[in-house]
Amino acid sequence: MKTLSKSLVHSAFQVFSKFRTNKFSSFFISLGYLIQSEGYYNKSKSKQLDWDRIDLHKYLVSEKVGANKEIVFLEFGVFWGETFFIWVGGNKNEHSRFVGFDTFVGLPEDWGSVKKGSFSAKGKVPNIDDSRVDFRVGLIHETLPQYVGNLQKHQAKIIHIDVDLYNATLITLIHLHPYLNKGDLIIFDDFFTITKTRHEYRAFTDYLLLHKTPYQPLFSTRNGQHVIEIL
Ligand SMILES: C[S@@+](CC[C@H](N)C(=O)[O-])C[C@H]1O[C@@H](n2cnc3c(N)ncnc32)[C@H](O)[C@@H]1O
Repeated sequence: MKTLSKSLVHSAFQVFSKFRTNKFSSFFISLGYLIQSEGYYNKSKSKQLDWDRIDLHKYLVSEKVGANKEIVFLEFGVFWGETFFIWVGGNKNEHSRFVGFDTFVGLPEDWGSVKKGSFSAKGKVPNIDDSRVDFRVGLIHETLPQYVGNLQKHQAKIIHIDVDLYNATLITLIHLHPYLNKGDLIIFDDFFTITKTRHEYRAFTDYLLLHKTPYQPLFSTRNGQHVIEIL
């Protein structure tokens, strides 16, 4: 009986594997992340905020972090600089640094139904007259490994991940990992949005499998942003 059911299951998988194997398996993988993310959302002790992303960033820079604190703000996915400007304008410490990573020509690949090339700033970096600011132009896969040697573990880091895509999110987390320190904040822009089973949430979950980083969830917003603090 056991052998019969085993061979039935085996035959069923053989049939499925003859057509659209990748789509078939990626459906179940996504389903797994969906169930996991629902559990994370419901069990997370993060404070639920009924704010939009702009209010969240304004609150973080002025209240949670404080305008006079020396920080290194690292933004992955800058586009026209909407959130970047909030941090540069809101933090007054002359020793703070603000580094933005982007191709500035848009997404390097499709993000669900959002097409490759979306969010293009047509190659222009934001116009900010502030010596504390630095932009690293290009694919994060190339620019971040070259940059990380400038970081020091003890610096208070605020990391904003808004690249949308799985691969760029995971690569960002892996390269920053050696420099993460107690109190650092990571802000995810699309953690709980519809793309969670394939992108930011999934990348963070996979990163935690590689590096068991202690953290606590701080805030979640109705639009899908999520803020964690490294412990
Ligand atoms: C949603 S936009 C960022 C929005 C911005 N934070 C804001 O608040 O206006 C996403 C950005 O990620 C960038 N991006 C995505 N994948 C990237 C990668 N692998 N390397 C560099 N930039 C990337 C795109 O060029 C795009 O500008």
